[in-house]
Order: sequence, then C-alpha cells, then structure tokens
Amino acid sequence: MSRNPFKPISISLSPNVSKDDLWIALKMLFIPWKWKEGDFSSDFERVFREFFDVKHAAAFNSGRSALFALLSSFRIGEGDQVAVQAFTCSAAIAPILWIGAKPLYIDVAEETLSMDPHDLEAKLTSRVKAIIVQHTFGVSSDIERIMDIARQREIPVIEDCAHTIGNSVHGKKLGTFGDAAFFSFGRDKVISSVYGGMAICFQHKAGKNLRHFSEQLSLPSRFWIFQQIIHPLLFAFLLPIYSFFHLGKVLLVLFQKLGLLSLAVSKIERTAGKPLYFPAKLPNALAGLALHQFGKLELLERHRVEISDMYTEHLSELRMRLPMKKQGETLLRYSVMTPRAHEILKKAWKRGFLLGDWYTQVISPDSTDLAAFLYKNGSCPVAQRMAESILNLPTHINTTREQAMEIVRFLKEK
Ligand SMILES: Cc1ncc(COP(=O)(O)O)c(C=O)c1O
Repeated sequence: MSRNPFKPISISLSPNVSKDDLWIALKMLFIPWKWKEGDFSSDFERVFREFFDVKHAAAFNSGRSALFALLSSFRIGEGDQVAVQAFTCSAAIAPILWIGAKPLYIDVAEETLSMDPHDLEAKLTSRVKAIIVQHTFGVSSDIERIMDIARQREIPVIEDCAHTIGNSVHGKKLGTFGDAAFFSFGRDKVISSVYGGMAICFQHKAGKNLRHFSEQLSLPSRFWIFQQIIHPLLFAFLLPIYSFFHLGKVLLVLFQKLGLLSLAVSKIERTAGKPLYFPAKLPNALAGLALHQFGKLELLERHRVEISDMYTEHLSELRMRLPMKKQGETLLRYSVMTPRAHEILKKAWKRGFLLGDWYTQVISPDSTDLAAFLYKNGSCPVAQRMAESILNLPTHINTTREQAMEIVRFLKEK
C-alpha cells in the first residue's frame, strides 16, 4: 500500500497513538467530571510498584515533576550540587535549578551516550548531594560502575528512565540500581499520555517524603488536562494533511498559538523558568491513557526491536556509527552518528522525513539558553561533539517497515 504523500514520516508527532488510544481519549473528552479524580492514578502507581518490585511509587503530571519530587524527597536544595550528564534535554536539568541547587555537568561516554564514570570521578565535589544517571535513548549507562562510585561516597543515585521502561543490565531492570528513578510519559516517550511521569523510590525515608510530597500537591487545571486529551485527537486529523499545502502544519502551529495544544517545553523553560503547572499530580484522565499504553508495552517494545534491527542490518555498510545496543535492549530512538548530521537532518525534513533532533545541542532543544542552565562551553567536549553528529531515527509503533526502508534508502543516497 502506498504511503499518503501528505503524511510525513515522523519521530515525534504523537508517535505512539493507535486507534484504541484515540478511542479512549475521545471517550474521556466527554466525561470531564472524571478528568481530575478517579482510580486510574493509584492503579497506575500500583502497576509500577509491581513491575519494579518497589514499595514507593508516585504519579506526576510529567517526568519534570517526578524529578522535582525526588530531589525534594532527598532534601536537595540551596547550595547543593547535582551531578548530571550533558547531552540531555532542558527538562532533565530544569528541576535541579527550580529546587535551588546547581547542576554539575558530567561528560558522556561515546559508547553509551550516557554519563562517563571517569569524568564523574574526576569532577565530584563534596557539595554533590545526588547523581542523576540517564539511560540515553534506552541504551543502558555504565550504571554498575557509577553505583560503585556513588556508594563509596554515600551519594544517592536517581536513575533518569525517561527513555526506557523495562530494559535491563545482567537481568536487573534499569531503574532498580539506584536509590530512586523517574519515568516520563511525554508525547514521544516509551508510552505516552502526552504529559505524565512516575517516581519510584527504594529508600525508606526518601520514599516516605515522596509520598508526603505527592499528597500535598494539587492537580493541574481542567483546561490543562483538556489540552492533553485533545492532543492525540487533533494530531489524528491533522497529520494526514500535514504537507497538503502545509495545511496540517499551519493548523498545528495555529492551535499551539491559540493555546489549544500544549508545547512539550514551554517558552519560559528555555531560560530555566518554571511553568505554574509543575509540579502537579497526574490527573485521572491522563493516568487512564498511560495505563492503557502500559498494557501494550510488550507490543510497543517488540516493534521498536524489529525496526531497530532493520536499521542495523541495512545501515551497517555506511560510514555511520550505530548505537551500541546490548542484547534485549529496546531503543526509544535509533541514534546514528555522522559528521554531516545537521545537514542531513535539514535535507530529510525537506523531504518529509521528520527525523529527530535529540540532542543537537548539549542541552536540547536548540532554543535553550545554555547560560541560564549554567552550562560552560567546553566543559563536556564529548557531549558537544556528539551533539554535532547525532541523528535519530524513529522506532515507534507507527513506523512501518516500508517507512524504515525509505529512511535507509534516503541515508544511503547521502
Ligand atoms: C532524558 C530526559 N529526562 C527527563 C525528561 C523529562 O520528562 P518530561 O518531559 O516528562 O518532563 C525528558 C523529557 O524529554 C528526557 O528526555
């Protein structure tokens, strides 16, 4: 079957949504009295507690809120430093600044695109009160080595699992190595409720603090919840006409300007400002969407493995660096490294292949003000080099095998 020429191959435009998800969102739209309160959030927390065999789990309206809650639970605040990798997104750093602490940027290792333990050891100071370890794109970081370093100095470790739910190292799930972890159910994550997050905690005291923190929080406004419910529905109508005289694209921008559609990162966050809707609890409506997606996790992940394997098979002959994926790892995005990445990205967009721009700047998106995020140019040279050469390819459920092959052919032309 030939592809609708007006519908782009995309990595981030509501990528996880299938008909069943749309149906749930549509039904939810008509029962506004269930948008805020209901059983879905506590059900979702229970599912996470069981999946990760952990006592404490709390659902929030984003990964940002979940990280903020964890930092607060570990009593991080003014004057503290938090070690975190460069080559990430502003959403992973902003909560550190919001709580009054300062990020200490650690460089990445080329193989994992995640924190380099050597650089961590070299840069650690006595002011570092937590280490955040990201598993970039789902590839596991060198978490065991990092845990050794952290344990020697009794520094709590928070795993940033925004890109993975269920990948493991030596049979142990990512998210269960550290003292705590958080997850994101943002629009282009492993599972999605447009906005959503979860924090889990293995420590007794911090876990109790986490529970207390989440109980004190309020829910986001009804309009904010409406913005998220309408998101997959609008995309379902607009994507098929996206490139028809740019109609879908123009309407999407218009809906964003009118405030009908939410942005993944709001304007004030570019300079590390905090929107009023963070931190907040996960509303019932979004928990329902996320819970339904969690039920399809295996299916969603199997598809990602299949598409990633295709890329590996067909791109191996090119002079591009492919991801160092380990056995059984599922990739949220399939990252390739090429010195011409930015040029290829622009050409791809022109051709209707909306490939990913994670992370074309050490702290993404490109509009992020690095000075406001206290990043010093040159402090993480590998991360900066990676940002120049990264290109990421879609693996999500709406990427067909034919589309993956179109991308492969496009990359071979270059
Ligand atoms: C690595 C990483 N950490 C944290 C976050 C924050 O998650 P959220 O967007 O749900 O706030 C993101 C989101 O893009 C991310 O990519």
